[in-house]
Amino acid sequence: MNYKNYFLVLLLTGICQTAKSQHKDLIVVNAAQSQGTVSPTMWGVFFEDINMGADGGIYAEMVKNRSFEFLKPLMGWSVKGNKITEGDILILNRQGANLANPRFVRANIKGADKGEAGMSNEGFKGGMGIKKDLRYDFSLMYRQQTPGLSLHVELLDEQNNVLGTAVLKPTDASGQWAKQEVSLNAKASSAKGKLNIWFEGSGVLDMDMISLFPSDTWKGRKKGMRADMIQMLADMKPGFIRFPGGCIVEGIDLANRYQWKKTIGPLEERQLIMNRWNVEFAHRPAPDYFQTFGLGFFEYFQLSEDIGAEPLPILNCGMACQFNTAEVVPLDQLDPYVQDALDLIEFANGDASSDWGKVRASMGHAAPFNLKYLGVGNENWGPQYIERAKAFQKAIKAKYPKINLIFSSGTDPDSERFHYLDKELRAMDADIIDEHYYRSPDWFLKNAARYDSYDRKGAKVFAGEYAAHVDKTVGTKRNTWQAAIAEAAFMTGLERNAAVVNMASYAPLFANTEGWQWAPDLIWVDNMNIYGTPNYYVQKLFSTNKGTQVASVLAEGKSLSGQDGLYVSAVVDNVKKELIVKLVNTKDTEQKKQVSLEGLKLAAEAQLTILQGGLTDQNSMDSPSAIVPAEAKLKLKGKTAALKLPANSLVMLKVSYK
Ligand code: AHR
Repeated sequence: MNYKNYFLVLLLTGICQTAKSQHKDLIVVNAAQSQGTVSPTMWGVFFEDINMGADGGIYAEMVKNRSFEFLKPLMGWSVKGNKITEGDILILNRQGANLANPRFVRANIKGADKGEAGMSNEGFKGGMGIKKDLRYDFSLMYRQQTPGLSLHVELLDEQNNVLGTAVLKPTDASGQWAKQEVSLNAKASSAKGKLNIWFEGSGVLDMDMISLFPSDTWKGRKKGMRADMIQMLADMKPGFIRFPGGCIVEGIDLANRYQWKKTIGPLEERQLIMNRWNVEFAHRPAPDYFQTFGLGFFEYFQLSEDIGAEPLPILNCGMACQFNTAEVVPLDQLDPYVQDALDLIEFANGDASSDWGKVRASMGHAAPFNLKYLGVGNENWGPQYIERAKAFQKAIKAKYPKINLIFSSGTDPDSERFHYLDKELRAMDADIIDEHYYRSPDWFLKNAARYDSYDRKGAKVFAGEYAAHVDKTVGTKRNTWQAAIAEAAFMTGLERNAAVVNMASYAPLFANTEGWQWAPDLIWVDNMNIYGTPNYYVQKLFSTNKGTQVASVLAEGKSLSGQDGLYVSAVVDNVKKELIVKLVNTKDTEQKKQVSLEGLKLAAEAQLTILQGGLTDQNSMDSPSAIVPAEAKLKLKGKTAALKLPANSLVMLKVSYK
């Protein structure tokens, strides 16, 4: 080779290398190349009464064991005062006369003044959260056996200072059960308050459903839900709410399965059962955890409607939890279970003259709830599940062909059990298959391309429960940024594959810092406060920016799913007229990328939303905003965004288009 040629080769190699490194840092987003439609249900929430999610959680009742139906009927209560003698406070049982709520308390008081004979309730975990200047509504059912008692109701703080008082003088003298209510205002706050009821006078009074609610419930509804918790959900604009779980659908045994018909109608007729999380984990015993069903199916439907989410109930399929008793109902006795499903559809969608539509209307909702999705079984597996699933499918599709049925693929995403169920469910033309994964952050990173190869024409996928678990240690400190960023990376894969993944929900949703059984969880609360985990902000970012069409994203001709620690997806929102790109950098160094935004006439400036942190960072009650989104603006150079992706970050770029 002569010198001239030698220098030419050197020059060309240099040019090629520069072009190659530029090429390597180039991400091409093409909005004109749609990769499928994003289902409006794409990002939703999974609600279960676990970790004090419902009772002691979003259900704002402050009295624990209001109906004396816990296994120990006076659990949560103490009897007080020097005028009380043995037998003055008794638990009685109506037996067959009231199967749903048999027990009540009888006070037989002889000549007591205020402060001499009474009962006190400690509230749920850690006491009652009482807020200064707020009105509280006390109510009960009573029957005057011998009239003559008045009730002095008091709110107290931890030091027994009285924060509010009211007197309730029973007015019904019929000798039948009656309801009455009185309100009281709190003059100060207490995070760990309690309720006293002092009896004054002489008489015999039967009492049940002794209740205390704050007046600042969600939408101000009487006996409603805790507004701050619901607001966090509403802020996510979830596409659906899956309820009521989770394992509580299955129950430890069939007798303790979730039965929706027992959760509707008057509160005093809803039959309480032990919450299966009461005894599930020896390391987290919760002996006072019961399901009162004050929050029942009607309320779940109403909540879904309130926040614009599709209701997504999951029903027991005739199988109890296979980690517990694994009890199954024989196939020839499955009909009542299937009938429950058919009746639920009528309850939700039937007109007000239908049998179950009438029940819904009598509860205050004449218009149908427009149910479109129904799950059959939670984490059930084996041929027994398939047999039962087929029976449900046949009956439901015959009567309600438009209802989308969701079937379980078991407890994990890659076992023999999973592959068996997946094959069987696809063979029976399941509409949607529910997949669950509680796995390490590494699993989430490695599986971000999981759905790239799924059949686009077959069943759709519901990623029904997932969360990255950083280690095997069970504890509250697991909602780290490492977990959240791994979920974010994985979620770019869900978004890219929205053509097949139609629904996804992190699990579990809520946890009480003093009463949890399972961690990590999306949102943590105590009696007074609430905070979103980094995982919450990831979920919210995706769900409030879900778009309507998936756009193509390529780097060196391939979709970005882990090369250089980078995960990228993009959507177009053709209603808001926005192009939205989500980029996850899982490297612990900054990365510079040129993002070429093609296929649309874009505005000159993009909005950036950035979530970043150290891998072990987390939010907490004391520091709720350690990891929250930050906003910035970026000028585009033509159609290119020059991005610096911070180490361990999720960056969302959003640009309007004409
Ligand atoms: O989300 C907690 C539990 O995890 C759910 O109840 C169950 O479905 C899963 O095993």
